[in-house]
Amino acid sequence: MPTPYRREHAVWFVEELVDGGWREDRERTWAVRVGGDLRGMVGLARRPVRSAEVGYWMAPEARGQGLLDRSLGLVLDHAFDPTGMDLDRVEWKAFGGNWRSWRAVWRHGFRFEGALRLGGVQRDTRRDDWVGGLLRDDPASRPGPGPAPPWRSRCHRHEPP
Ligand SMILES: CC(C)(COP(=O)(O)OP(=O)(O)OC[C@H]1O[C@@H](n2cnc3c(N)ncnc32)[C@H](O)[C@@H]1OP(=O)(O)O)[C@@H](O)C(=O)NCCC(=O)NCCS
Repeated sequence: MPTPYRREHAVWFVEELVDGGWREDRERTWAVRVGGDLRGMVGLARRPVRSAEVGYWMAPEARGQGLLDRSLGLVLDHAFDPTGMDLDRVEWKAFGGNWRSWRAVWRHGFRFEGALRLGGVQRDTRRDDWVGGLLRDDPASRPGPGPAPPWRSRCHRHEPP
């Protein structure tokens, strides 16, 4: 997210990224709504040859309720469905240490594939990127308690899963 986030950033997001993305089939972005009110977004940005990168955010007050979890499930069904995007792979990337984001995709069966050292850029500063992926034939979900919540332990916060 740009900081400060100005009106022109929002206009670009709605008109270019969302509308333009659907129009030119570059990316497909969905709003997550509760009772008509916007609570978050989930999107799939196409990558070459039957692949896409997933991205999402939820408004702070809408987190921790499983809303992203349900929405992500629907979007991933669409990603692999032959009548949807018919992809072979969905990729996930996040800045190193974004355990909330990793937990979200882990629940849907994503496998952790590595860390790109200083592979990402946040506000003109290079940061490690974490990468994971879900393939069409991977088991769709991981029952169980999930990865330990390392955000409670400061010293391990940025270690990969
Ligand atoms: C990443 C992000 C979208 C995750 O949001 P979230 O609300 O935690 O995601 P989920 O919908 O999967 O919710 C899971 C949490 O809700 C809880 N929950 C409550 N009711 C639930 C239900 N009915 N079903 C599933 N989970 C439920 C789960 O226990 C879980 O909490 P836990 O991880 O502490 O166990 C959010 O933290 C965010 O917007 N972050 C900032 C933007 C960002 O980092 N985006 C990703 C960039 S790669």
